[in-house]
Amino acid sequence: MNEKIENLRARFKEKMASISQKDALEQLRVGFMGKKGEFTALLKDMKDMQDEARRQFGQLVNSAKAEFERAIVEKAREIEAAEIAKKTESEWVDITWPEEPLQGSAHPLSIVRAELEDLFTSLGFDIMDGPEMEEEYFNFNALNIPEDHPARDSQDTFWLKNGKLLRSQTSPVQIRGMLAKKPPIKFVSPGKTYRNEAVDASHEHSFHQCEGLVIDKGITVSHLVFTLQQIISSIFGEEVEIRLRPSFFPFVEPGFELDFKCRICKGKGCSVCKQTGWIEYLGCGMVHPQVLKNCGIDPEIYSGFAFGGGIERLAMMKYGIDDIRHFHGGDLRFLKQF
Ligand code: DAH
Repeated sequence: MNEKIENLRARFKEKMASISQKDALEQLRVGFMGKKGEFTALLKDMKDMQDEARRQFGQLVNSAKAEFERAIVEKAREIEAAEIAKKTESEWVDITWPEEPLQGSAHPLSIVRAELEDLFTSLGFDIMDGPEMEEEYFNFNALNIPEDHPARDSQDTFWLKNGKLLRSQTSPVQIRGMLAKKPPIKFVSPGKTYRNEAVDASHEHSFHQCEGLVIDKGITVSHLVFTLQQIISSIFGEEVEIRLRPSFFPFVEPGFELDFKCRICKGKGCSVCKQTGWIEYLGCGMVHPQVLKNCGIDPEIYSGFAFGGGIERLAMMKYGIDDIRHFHGGDLRFLKQF
């Protein structure tokens, strides 16, 4: 009888050794332990045995059965561990690794801003910084825009609980510059500006301007025209025609709107320039005597010119961008082109 069990054990061990899959293990389990399995067959022999022999045989069968069961459980664990190890190996991912190696690039506004800074410094301008959270006095009053002035309507901005505001223009840096420096003064100040504005293809609530200021003895409109013509031509990499039209800004007198020849149609008229052949670009003029006085500069001795223009608008013209919202949209398809 022992022999039968030894035989069974030998076959069991041999089969177990070759098993590496759950399905096969289950088949083996059913084959040995199942209702119609090997053990059931063995037990059939018992009915012809003497009491003592049957008892002994029964014990051997039971202990063999328990042994096989343990072996099967152990094997199941091994198979599972091997599967997990295999999965971990094959599905291993480094979650810090970018989907594809991305090459970063400068934002188009940063590119144009840096170009402006380079060009202006090459003409002897300093770069000045001013706060985005500004005093009402610097943003408006000192620039000849008192509280009841209609010019405030077109420059509605975000007022803060501390009584300050988000500057609606970079022009307040003119005041800060004149208070901080003594003439001759010559600087540009590029930076962020804000307006309470409905957003569309050409308006944003946050945008960038570049302000410029030159104060010295004998400064005239010719200096203004020369400087801006040089800068705009350099930005576009070729000679660009400009023109001045009379306009009104409370802090300059006379004040002008500067246009440049449309880059798309070269002046013939197209949808971009609204068939005029010209692109309205920036505000400029000769610094108002009252503004000089507000900053302690004698208008009898000194004169100066100032200008301020949008950086987005320049970048849009330079790169042919048709919607201002692309700049802050964070769309990589847009950003990757620069
Ligand atoms: N700050 C004006 C604006 O945002 C633009 C401007 C006009 C700036 C005339 C100037 C200037 O320096 O002289 O509309």
